[in-house]
Amino acid sequence: MRDILAPESGRWRRFVEIFAAVVEPAGYELIVPPMMEDAGVFKRVGEATDVVSKEMYEFTDLGGRHVALRPEQTASVCRAFVQHRPTTPWKTWYAGPNFRYEKPQRGRYRQFDQVGVEVLGVDDPFLDVEVIALGWRFYDALGLRQVTLLLNSLGEPADRARYADALRAYFGANLDALTAESRETLDRNPLRVLDSKRAPDAPVIAAAPQLADFLSKEAAAHFDAVRDGLDALGIPYRIDPRLVRGLDYYLRTTFEFAGGTLDSAQNALGGGGRYDGLVEALGGPPTPGIGFALGVDRTLLACDDEGAFTPPVPAPDVFVVDTTGGLEALAITEQVRRAGRSADRAYDNRSMKAQMKAANRSGARVAVIIGDDERAAGTAVVRPLREGDAGQTVVARSDLLTHLEAALTP
Ligand code: HAM
Repeated sequence: MRDILAPESGRWRRFVEIFAAVVEPAGYELIVPPMMEDAGVFKRVGEATDVVSKEMYEFTDLGGRHVALRPEQTASVCRAFVQHRPTTPWKTWYAGPNFRYEKPQRGRYRQFDQVGVEVLGVDDPFLDVEVIALGWRFYDALGLRQVTLLLNSLGEPADRARYADALRAYFGANLDALTAESRETLDRNPLRVLDSKRAPDAPVIAAAPQLADFLSKEAAAHFDAVRDGLDALGIPYRIDPRLVRGLDYYLRTTFEFAGGTLDSAQNALGGGGRYDGLVEALGGPPTPGIGFALGVDRTLLACDDEGAFTPPVPAPDVFVVDTTGGLEALAITEQVRRAGRSADRAYDNRSMKAQMKAANRSGARVAVIIGDDERAAGTAVVRPLREGDAGQTVVARSDLLTHLEAALTP
């Protein structure tokens, strides 16, 4: 778990703002679920996954309740749907931290932030396309270019079950070729074996049965429509028949956004898919659902690699230097801030030289300087600090704001 300091923290906030600017015009409204819930909410959706069975921060609180820090937010959104019964389609977006007890490494942390969307109550394959397109457009808005959309269909529950049986039989006949970890995964969840990134597993996985051959007519038609929609929007994708994702609730459309610059074990910038049985599993009526979550950390690493979406360089418009005790600086910064401009100042009544050094370091466009002479005369010196700007002027205090506005307008 880490501290996020400036300037990175500014980039985080901007990241969420850009996400909101992409999804809100499409009708998605912010939901802020609690970070901690009854552990059962998460257990019911993914008992057979590592995320829930091995990585969850679970404990008993002082009231004897068995709670967990959320490992993700899809289950929380579905629980909220069951609890509040909003009208459908219910289009939501969220941003915030999640917790998984994973082995920390570059791009993998125990507390990590996601932004995401979830839509409940719509079966239409073109909603799948809308959701995917939002993720795609968000990466574009960040300026990321090397993103690949991977697409798969996991079929209906019955398709998945038949496929799981086929995998069990296939891997069962090839046990010696699998790593010990994959043999253990096979017992719990045969589909997850396909997700192994361990090199010795690769050949046997490559020759495994393909889910596409097990899709029902309905699931295949839904998948075709999703592809048609993506084609219509000009969004490129690659069908990845091995894409099973790390959570158990997926059915039909699943997808992942892979970063082109990241190490392949950690290159999933985000992912999602349909989870039509999840609301029911949490005690609600049968309700289709789809969504995705994008990892903030990994997406920013990809941005660093591509030189995209660089951290903001904060600099005030105005820096006030006051060698008369500081009361003038107090009044002027307040006046400038009220006028909608940013202003900073030096403190502790330091020397002119020290304050000017601080002004230059701040990156401000303009310094306002008040010494004893200016205070006595009711004036202020306005000194541009950037190269190429005009020279300094002395202005009456009553004209200061007007003058600053002119000096700051490009
Ligand atoms: P997920 O694939 O587990 O899906 O996580 C989505 C993204 O969160 C990952 O692609 C990755 O970028 C980021 N992420 C996951 N774990 C970590 C970690 N330990 N450190 C840093 N980043 C991480 C979900 O969470 C689903 N709830 C997505 C979804 C929404 N499906 C449907 N709706």
